[in-house]
This record gives sequence, structure tokens and C-alpha cells, in this order.
Amino acid sequence: MKTNDLIFDRSFVNGKWTNQGDETFEVTNPANGNSIQTVLDGGIQITEMAINAADRAFKSWRKTTAKYRGDILEKWNYLILKHAKELAEIMTLECGKPFSESKGEVAYGASYIKWFAEEGKRTYGDVIPPHSEDKRLVVIKQPVGVVAAITPWNFPLAMITRKVAPALAAGCTVVIRPTYESPLTALAIVYLSQIAGFPPGVINVIVGKDSAAMGKLLCESQKVKKISFTGSTRIGHILMAQSASTLKKLSLELGGNAPFIVFEDADIDKAVKGAIVSKFRNAGQTCVCVNRILVHEKVYDEFSVKLTKAVASLKVGDGMLANVNIGPMINIDAIEKTKEFVSDAISKGAKILTGGKPINQYFFEPTVIGNATREMSFSDDEIFGPLAPLYKFTSDEEAIKIANDTIYGLASYFYSENVSRCWRVAEALEYGMVGINEGLVSTEVAPFGGVKFSGHGREGSKYGIEDYLEIKYMCFGNII
Ligand code: SIN
Repeated sequence: MKTNDLIFDRSFVNGKWTNQGDETFEVTNPANGNSIQTVLDGGIQITEMAINAADRAFKSWRKTTAKYRGDILEKWNYLILKHAKELAEIMTLECGKPFSESKGEVAYGASYIKWFAEEGKRTYGDVIPPHSEDKRLVVIKQPVGVVAAITPWNFPLAMITRKVAPALAAGCTVVIRPTYESPLTALAIVYLSQIAGFPPGVINVIVGKDSAAMGKLLCESQKVKKISFTGSTRIGHILMAQSASTLKKLSLELGGNAPFIVFEDADIDKAVKGAIVSKFRNAGQTCVCVNRILVHEKVYDEFSVKLTKAVASLKVGDGMLANVNIGPMINIDAIEKTKEFVSDAISKGAKILTGGKPINQYFFEPTVIGNATREMSFSDDEIFGPLAPLYKFTSDEEAIKIANDTIYGLASYFYSENVSRCWRVAEALEYGMVGINEGLVSTEVAPFGGVKFSGHGREGSKYGIEDYLEIKYMCFGNII
């Protein structure tokens, strides 16, 4: 199969590519602004059609066995891995990340399918010792129903599979709403899901530009029983408010403001490597990217020199070119926001150690900023770009206080060679995930998610399927 054979231009509902929609929009390559594909905008009608198809399909899908569903998920995983190269190419074209990162995301995204194909067979209930002699108490778990997965542009494959795989494994049906910037990867994997054998209506994908209207309908529909969303905290608030009328279950994976603490006993070379991986993945455009690097005053100079050298050697360019480490920013607004962070920091006394400006309207130089302080706007805001600000601290208490001084609580990282400090700090950080001497924590076998304004719910691991299950208690009486 060639890459072009996996490019589709419209929504997929009830097992068919639909003709629904009067308007089209362009999916463009963020590395040069060129159109990759004209896509049919399914509008609000396609949302309704997809909800109805998923609702109908749920009636039979929920009755299938976990083994049956697991077998189809396994085939889907196999097909995604078989077409990893083509999918990675589509991904780089529409979201800009370097091809090697896209290949990594295909494997990462597929791993959730494989994991939940197995995990679906382990959604055990309980037998509870009864409170009286003539009763028997049993707990079973059942699928919640139709699930809407609303997903972002920065991980166009993995953010879908880590919602949809547990939902399908649990016996739910799904409506996927990928963002209009990067719908092509979603359409390609949904095509592969049909070859894998999912019945019509079990997986639907809707594309359109009116995110607000489509999201509102998904939230307010009585037929949709759960929304799983990855994106900004601002949109998370809106979806939660809109879901109130239907008391819908929600999983929200929202923004972050990750601290990366380098203690005085850290292995500095390892810390520099960890900071690069964590800060510059996808040009800094992930929710778990480091936002603030806090360095103990005793090792500040050594760390900043080594980090600056490593960052200055990163190669920026079109993600399809060989050896590129940093691709484009998603759009001109992202470039402008990054520029504003830099000028605000300079006006408040920061020093640019490397980078500091856009290369053109698509790319921004990987940047290290020294002398960062609490007053600079990126201290409170998610950077979502290739800026690494360095802050100085003098004690563990101060580092923990600065690290926790944010509304967010997704990922955090720190480096220390002292075991008791590692435990103390890890327990004190108010975050859903902590990397200890590690800059990359994401994996399908562990729970991904945040606290505070970073949302709630967990994705991946044995915990990740629970959000798609209802608990039912059955009380058998009069057993004599
Ligand atoms: C995200 O940025 O939302 C996801 C990052 C990851 O899964 O590692």
C-alpha cells in the first residue's frame, strides 16, 4: 500500500465514507503552508449521524465477548504497525513532527491497542461477603455506552488510540472527533480498523471545522454517555460545563506547566539529556513538555552551559528531511505566542543563552533563557513551544514550592542521586506523573493523567479501562 492509498477526504460513519457536507477545508503542511488534502466538512449533521450510528451499534457490540473484541483490536494493531511508514508520513505532513518521532508515535499509539486488547479480558467484578444469610452480593462491570473522543493535533494517532482502544475493549462504541488541523491520520487508522473487522457503527470519525458546534452537540446528546478529551484547560472547562445537563462522565487530559528540577547532587549529563527529550519533543508542543527548569545554584552554571550547547546543536527543519530534531510550530499564532514569551522575559531581565527568535513564519529557534523569574509570563502559562527557561533555587523546600506554584498538575520531573530525597520530593510534588531521573514517562502500561487544572481520569494501564465501565451491584435475595 502507498501513502496515498491511506489518504481519505471525508467522515466515516456507520461503516461508510459519507457524502455529508456542502463545504470543504484544506489540511495544510505546517512546514510550508502547502495544502495536503481538501476535506469535506461534515458539519453538525455528521455529528448527529455518527452519534446515532454508534448508538445503534452499541446494542450488539456490548454483547460480544471481550475475547472477540480483543481479537479485532489485535488485528487493528497489526495493520497499524504494518503501515507504520505510511502513517508516519501522513502524520509528519499534517502536524510537522520529525518523521522519526512520527514513527515513534505510530508504535506508541498501537501499543495502547495491543494493551487494551488484553486488558479487556480482565474487567473482573467482585463477590462481596453478604450482610445476611439469605443474600448473595455480586458486582459486575458493563460498558458505559457511546463514547466521544475529542483529540488534538499534536498526537494525531496516539491520543485517539489511548481513548478508543479501552472504550472498544470495554464494549463501548465510539465517535472520534479529530481536530481539523490533523484529521488525515485519524481517517487512515479508521480505514485500517475496518479491514481489521469492526462492525459498522462501532467506530465513527467525524471531520469538520466547527469544533465548537460539534463539541457542544456531543456534550449535550443524551445518547453519548462519556466524553474523553485531550486539549487545553480552557476547552476542558467549556466541555465540562456543556456536559452538565446530561451528567456525562468525563475524562479530561488538559494543559500542563511541568517543572524539571535539577538538584545539586544530580548527574548533570543525564539531566541535560532528560531536559532535551522532555522539552523539545514535538518542538515543545506536548502537554508533558518541560515548562520551567529549576536548577540548584551550585550546579546552575554547569547545567546551563551544557544545556545551551546541546540545544544549539539541534537541527531545525521540515520533519520529512533526514536528521531533523525540531519541526515547525503548528501555525503562525504559535510562533507569535512564543515570540511574546521571549520579549516579555527579556523586558523583565532574562538573558537569551541560545536561539530566541523565529526563523520564518513556520519555525522557531530552539531557545534557552537564563535568569528566569516568577514574574515572567511563561511561569504561569503553558509555553507549548521550544523555549527552555532556567530558574535558580537554593533549597529543596524552595524548589518544591516553586514547582507546585501553578494551577496545573500533569507531569513533573527531577534529577537527584539521593534516594531519600527522591522519595521526599516525588511525594511532595502535586502532579499526576513524576519522572525521577527520567525525562519521558509516557507508556501504555502506566497511568497517564493529571490533577488540579490538568484534568482528571487516567489513560493507559489497568486503570485506563475503568473510565469506560459502569459498576453494577446485584443483590440476590431469599436464598434459603
Ligand atoms: C500530550 O501531549 O497530550 C501527550 C503526550 C504523551 O502521551 O506523551
